[in-house]
Amino acid sequence: MKLVKKFRPPVEPRSFGSGLIVGCFLVSMTFVMLSRNDISMDHLSILNCLPSSSSSSGDAAPMSSTVEEDTRIRLLGRTKQIDASFINPPDGKGEEGISSSCESNSSDCKTENDTQVLNGPSTGDFNESDGGAPERKPMCDFSDYRLNICDMEGDIRISGKNLSSVMLVTHTGSRERNESWQIRPYPRKYDRSAMAKVRPLNLTSLRRHQEAPECSVNHTVPGILFSTGGHCGNCFHDFADVLVPLFQTAGPFHGQVQFIITNQQGWWMHKYRPYLTKLSSYDVIDYDNDERVHCFDHVVVGLRAERDLMIDPSRAPRGHSIMDFVKLTRSAYSLARERAWAAGGPPGTKPRLLFIARGGTRRFVNLDEVVGMAREVGYEVVATEPDFIDVARFAHVVNSCDVMVGVHGAGLTNFLFLPTNAIVIQVVPLGNLDWIATNFYGDPAMGMNLRYLQYDISVEESTLTELYPRDHRVFQDPESIHKEGWLRLGDVYLKQQNVRLNVNRFRPVLEKALQLLHERN
Ligand SMILES: *[C@@H]1O[C@H](CO)[C@@H](O)[C@H](O)[C@H]1NC(C)=O
Ligand SMILES: *[C@@H]1O[C@H](CO)[C@@H](O)[C@H](O)[C@H]1NC(C)=O
Ligand SMILES: *[C@@H]1O[C@H](CO)[C@@H](O)[C@H](O)[C@H]1NC(C)=O
Ligand SMILES: *[C@@H]1O[C@H](CO)[C@@H](O)[C@H](O)[C@H]1NC(C)=O
Ligand SMILES: *[C@@H]1O[C@H](CO)[C@@H](O)[C@H](O)[C@H]1NC(C)=O
Ligand SMILES: *[C@@H]1O[C@H](CO)[C@@H](O)[C@H](O)[C@H]1NC(C)=O
Ligand SMILES: *[C@@H]1O[C@H](CO)[C@@H](O)[C@H](O)[C@H]1NC(C)=O
Repeated sequence: MKLVKKFRPPVEPRSFGSGLIVGCFLVSMTFVMLSRNDISMDHLSILNCLPSSSSSSGDAAPMSSTVEEDTRIRLLGRTKQIDASFINPPDGKGEEGISSSCESNSSDCKTENDTQVLNGPSTGDFNESDGGAPERKPMCDFSDYRLNICDMEGDIRISGKNLSSVMLVTHTGSRERNESWQIRPYPRKYDRSAMAKVRPLNLTSLRRHQEAPECSVNHTVPGILFSTGGHCGNCFHDFADVLVPLFQTAGPFHGQVQFIITNQQGWWMHKYRPYLTKLSSYDVIDYDNDERVHCFDHVVVGLRAERDLMIDPSRAPRGHSIMDFVKLTRSAYSLARERAWAAGGPPGTKPRLLFIARGGTRRFVNLDEVVGMAREVGYEVVATEPDFIDVARFAHVVNSCDVMVGVHGAGLTNFLFLPTNAIVIQVVPLGNLDWIATNFYGDPAMGMNLRYLQYDISVEESTLTELYPRDHRVFQDPESIHKEGWLRLGDVYLKQQNVRLNVNRFRPVLEKALQLLHERN
């Protein structure tokens, strides 16, 4: 079956990834992407992502009434190896952002190249510092495909508003390396459209005798400087690009760390304040608007990250895992349920099933019918749209459930609020989207000790059948659409497509989930 085939990017992988707009913010982001207008995504996101009533038109024509072969319903066990594939290939496939400037075959799409060493550590005399001073490590590491990071120790002075730079004052002789770097502290550097929305910061080393600004504040704890620009506002990116990487970077300091944030937005800070206060005991410094000179002994500029929504414990400091992030989340939002429904619980209770009911694109067209079927199967059903503003409220709704069903999209990111051993069912639309479905949501869900089922819809369940004849290559040859680049791919498969689930074909998946809840918990 074609849909189960693993995705291989046809041309520039980037073209594929950059078209993948997922999310509660899909409407707005897609608009930006498709219109190529340089409109502030963040602004639009707010406007479009307020909770709206999920309109499910009940005009769904029932599809074929025969239950199809189970072969397309893939039940993935948690035992699936995720470690072997831990490192994303450095080709941008993991990218889920949008790009308004990147064509599938334009060569400048591979790697962002505006962060570069200006006067970097390329001289051959690193270890020849005067007076026998020890060799200093280069301030920055730009070698990773996903992120640039600078880890500095010494006399560090940060002047955000006035000078927009981070300075390391060196005390040793004139032969020590002079360094000058420019960095955008957001861990998705292969995504030009994201990085375009991240403020570049200059990092330089200064001689002691050179003009270094006087310290306004001396900090006794280390600092972490990062950006909440980029694709922030899309809940997938909020977690994959900032919150999980921040947890990885800040975790080892146990709160004794000062955050300095550039591209701050009030609503974002408000929304995720519970994480920030868990991870740091100090008020955040607003880099862009703070006129003071902040001095530190140790500063990390940038965030560490590996794979989206995953942490490799073998690489993370102190063996932190994504489960530690889940624990932090439960504590930050006071989520009471740690484990999903289990057989033998209080009599009369049913497992709860949550439909993530997207309001914009990739809707469940016949939600009422599907909800009715789910009740017949034996669930207490909740159907709701993620709440853009009130994360805490929505997190509690999710945490009260045992099964989550959603069409591929950022709303699925909310699975991190589910109790352990709950079941995530991703409904994957047409279009050979298996690769992104697995990498952005399937693998992360399993990494969080959730059980994962994937339902690849049949052609009959796609509303694309109302837009294109059945012999159209949209159905016959999705790869040819992929080859046309992200613009077309995103437009066809992610924007035009809604899902009308065939309740007879989908029912076995809900039955399987129920069986799993009974089996082992
Ligand atoms: C991409 O390739 C196609 C055909 O190979 C060509 O017609 C088109 O102009 C190219 N686009 C860019 C942006 O290079
Ligand atoms: C980045 O730009 C520099 C100078 O323009 C160039 O030498 C280098 O090859 C580029 N690197 C990449 C990865 O494109
Ligand atoms: C510098 O390091 C190289 C090897 O890393 C070594 O061969 C050389 O002797 C060192 N020079 C000094 C002055 O220490
Ligand atoms: C940062 O460095 C770049 C490249 O050297 C320079 O053009 C720019 O003016 C610098 N910005 C600030 C604020 O110093
Ligand atoms: C570093 O800069 C200082 C002052 O501009 C200069 O005197 C010194 O020679 C430079 N050192 C190196 C290794 O380039
Ligand atoms: C910060 O520390 C430096 C060096 O110890 C000291 O000279 C300076 O007065 C201090 N500044 C403030 C504002 O405490
Ligand atoms: C930053 O600039 C403002 C306005 O130019 C000035 O009043 C303030 O003293 C400066 N702050 C520092 C620490 O230099």
